[in-house]
Amino acid sequence: MSRPASSQWTEGRFDIGEMSFPYYFGSHCLDRVVAELAQYDADLLVVVTDDTVARLHGDVVFPALAAAAPLHVFSRPPGEGMKTIGTVQDCLDAAVAAGSTRRSVVVSFGGGVPGNVAGTVAGLLYRGVRLVHLPTTTVAATDSVLSLKQAVNGQSGKNHFGLYRRPEAVYVDVALLRTLPDRELRSGLCEFAKNALAIHPALLAPLRERLRAGMPREPEMLLWMIEASLAAKHAVMRQDAYEQSTGLVLEYGHTVGHAVELCAARRRGVPSIAHGEAIALGALVAARVSAVLGHLDKEAVGVHEELLGLLGVRERVSADLPRAEILAALRKDSKRGYLDLGADEAAFVLLRALGQPLGDRDRPLMPVPLGLVAEVLDELGIGKRGALGLSGADGDEPGHPEVEEFN
Ligand SMILES: NC(=O)c1ccc[n+]([C@@H]2O[C@H](COP(=O)([O-])OP(=O)(O)OC[C@H]3O[C@@H](n4cnc5c(N)ncnc54)[C@H](O)[C@@H]3O)[C@@H](O)[C@H]2O)c1
Repeated sequence: MSRPASSQWTEGRFDIGEMSFPYYFGSHCLDRVVAELAQYDADLLVVVTDDTVARLHGDVVFPALAAAAPLHVFSRPPGEGMKTIGTVQDCLDAAVAAGSTRRSVVVSFGGGVPGNVAGTVAGLLYRGVRLVHLPTTTVAATDSVLSLKQAVNGQSGKNHFGLYRRPEAVYVDVALLRTLPDRELRSGLCEFAKNALAIHPALLAPLRERLRAGMPREPEMLLWMIEASLAAKHAVMRQDAYEQSTGLVLEYGHTVGHAVELCAARRRGVPSIAHGEAIALGALVAARVSAVLGHLDKEAVGVHEELLGLLGVRERVSADLPRAEILAALRKDSKRGYLDLGADEAAFVLLRALGQPLGDRDRPLMPVPLGLVAEVLDELGIGKRGALGLSGADGDEPGHPEVEEFN
């Protein structure tokens, strides 16, 4: 496949607490990425990817990267199943066998899953080697690479084992995102919409306008999303590298979103709802909860409804998830430790207005009774009616699995 010469190339910077890293993005800019990587003077690039990304883009990208430094490619079948300690161990052993040293660079090439595996490997190999991200999904380019959090899943839940690792840099060629299926494109747009609702409402009007024109995938739109995500995430993470105070607002929609995502994945074996879709749905639940509690007005809830409609999320959620499982997952939500909660409460990011979280600025979390969450889920037709799974009179449905979720 022939490559046009670089047509656009923007240099950004992401300050995160005391740390900072450059973020370069453009369209058809692989030659610039390779020139940058050549500056690292690496003795080996350990490329962590998945089989789909390798199949779609490896024939162009791998030879190009090999011009910057010797290459070792580590690839696994795609999806959450790749995010395990076993994969990390295999990758570490493969990197050592391939001759890596402290001068080597781990390169994530793919979505958030290869990104998290690569980040964990980079943190462990020889107690830490350099990490570079080449994200190829909207979720990775606009969200997961703008974080120090790196983790893989445990037997009983997501992101149980991990560490914090700053990348040397992020490089995005949006031309590589042209092959994304609609589902994955939508997932990133949903995360973006969540950030617009919770942090930067000025982005809502241009986002709605673009969505009305259809599912946008042209380079101009992707470049705009990246620039806007950098600004929105920068605003809340500049003072909070570890996402434990102001950065918690990024968890908007995640309390119910993660519970639905996890239960849907368990029920069908494969995720029927993409990560971002579940988060957008969780944002709508949070908005309705906040409205019932008298904090958020109808217009703001209407903005949530309209966005989810434009993103086509509502019709993607099946009603057949047992309510008790969703509520059980809410009881294990990782934000629980931040607040002094009763057994039938969960910690939510709630808004008082678009872009304005309730609670302390340094801890924007509110306790919400699970009974109220159940009512809102009912109104929205999410999850099967029946036992609410409360620990009081209703009781959990017998025999539902223990569910744990960590962010
Ligand atoms: N702070 C963080 O570290 C953070 C933040 C958000 C999400 N995440 C994690 O990221 C993961 C979700 O990220 P994701 O949605 O990118 O998942 P992913 O990496 O599984 O990618 C989704 C799918 O898209 C495919 N794909 C990737 N690039 C493609 C391309 N250019 N063309 C066609 N197909 C392509 C992949 O093969 C995969 O099947 C989750 O594990 C989540 O926990 C981490």
